[in-house]
Amino acid sequence: MKNVKLSMPNLKEARLRRKLDIETIRYRMDDKYKDLGKGKSYYIYTYGCQGNEADSEVMAGILEQAGYTFSEDPLLADVVLLNTCAVRENAEQRIWGVLGQLKGRKRENPDLIVGICGCMPQEEAATAKIIESYDVDLIFGTHNRNHLPMLLEQAYMSKCKVVEVLSTEGNILEDAPKVRQSKHKAWVTIMYGCDEFCTYCIVPYTRGRERSRQKDDIIKEVKELVEEGYKEITLLGQNVNAYGKDLNIDYTFGDLLYDLDKTGISRIRYTTSHPRDLDLKTMEAMRDCKSVMPHLHLPVQSGDNDILKIMNRKYTHEEYMAKVNKLRELVPGISLTTDIIVGFPNETEEQFIHTLDLVKEVGFEGAFTFIYSKREGTPAARMIDNVSEEEKHLRLNRLIELTNQGYLEGHKRFVGSIVKVLVDGESKNGDGMMCGYSEHNKLTHFKSDNKDLVGQIVSVKITEAKTWFQIGELCEE
Ligand code: SAH
Ligand code: SF4
Ligand code: F3S
Repeated sequence: MKNVKLSMPNLKEARLRRKLDIETIRYRMDDKYKDLGKGKSYYIYTYGCQGNEADSEVMAGILEQAGYTFSEDPLLADVVLLNTCAVRENAEQRIWGVLGQLKGRKRENPDLIVGICGCMPQEEAATAKIIESYDVDLIFGTHNRNHLPMLLEQAYMSKCKVVEVLSTEGNILEDAPKVRQSKHKAWVTIMYGCDEFCTYCIVPYTRGRERSRQKDDIIKEVKELVEEGYKEITLLGQNVNAYGKDLNIDYTFGDLLYDLDKTGISRIRYTTSHPRDLDLKTMEAMRDCKSVMPHLHLPVQSGDNDILKIMNRKYTHEEYMAKVNKLRELVPGISLTTDIIVGFPNETEEQFIHTLDLVKEVGFEGAFTFIYSKREGTPAARMIDNVSEEEKHLRLNRLIELTNQGYLEGHKRFVGSIVKVLVDGESKNGDGMMCGYSEHNKLTHFKSDNKDLVGQIVSVKITEAKTWFQIGELCEE
């Protein structure tokens, strides 16, 4: 039977940044879908960044509105969605593995619908391979999750692969239902897409143009979260510091922080920041707004100016340090974390040393470290590389040794102090401990069996520092 190809991915199209008006879709499900999932259940696997986690909450909301119920056990679900990531090759390898495991399942449940969505289907080669080699019913991308009920209906009716991947600038989805994973911490997407085009990165191709939600929609969402009892929000975007640029109004990310601080939410975090776009107003908002937490994830990628240039990062080692110093002046004690890529094509030992130097200079208290991964369709994929895989692994290990010290130092500096912790729940090792994150975003464990503390902000006196967490004692209020 022929597959239903509503639209196929195209990386060249995805690169275009046409001056089109971005469409805002106010989601409202057609009544004809309200019993689509009656008596059926769903499960969503989520990989990749927080953007995908937020998207999965929307897809869960849409599925529940269409009558599906959540299945705790993915093996028993009637609809299984894989919300995928394409940022590095190993992220994709995991998906091929899961798809392989799902292969036999269709024989047990002929009505099972397996769908693959998110960033991987946005790549031509990945979608071709899925169509060719895997027993998947539904393939859709990042711009059309709002079509989910229609796509499911098509999959039920046609009994063959339904593909809809749009390589457009994208849209803005408002009013979609959401099933949030936490009752006290919430993701709030403030902008979609990315226009930075760092030369190694696939994200601008999979997520479309930078497009900001209207500030009033964001403020309304946060006010509702406050009313529902949420304590913490994390504002999401690939480059939140570019918020508002596309709206052509005199309103930037810093303004948004000041406005959200007035909503009464206890804690505001945000990710991810681009060092070039991090401006003074944002730093001042971090100083002035009590709710904006003293932690910033500021990906540097490399400490070498030539590599930064070839990466198209648009700042230098020195400019990065100047922003860090300004931040430290305005927000004393702020904790800084970062992302670093080692083994970018032709990176020399000397250039790598410049990265180690920067890590020492800043004193990062955490870092996600990656070996460069070639992404088809990006400019860096065309570069000839003379660094061996073995050398890249050695560099990664040297870097990790240094960044692990930073994690430990970041905990050590709180020993003896009292920190405020938003309690998430029981510690995983189940030894009568509970855990949560401090204002500086440090995972903190403390002894207590009081489940009522979940979702509360408590004071904890830190007694011990470990590499990955800190331990303390609950203070009597
Ligand atoms: N928008 C964010 C995060 C994007 S992806 C930012 O700009 O920081 C998260 C991280 O993945 C990036 O910060 C980068 O360190 C890493 N990354 C992206 N593309 C990569 C690639 N091709 N190989 C290795 N790491 C990559
Ligand atoms: Fe990728 Fe750069 Fe955009 Fe981040 S800012 S998503 S690294 S292109
Ligand atoms: Fe991955 Fe897509 Fe996020 S590639 S990192 S899931 S934007």
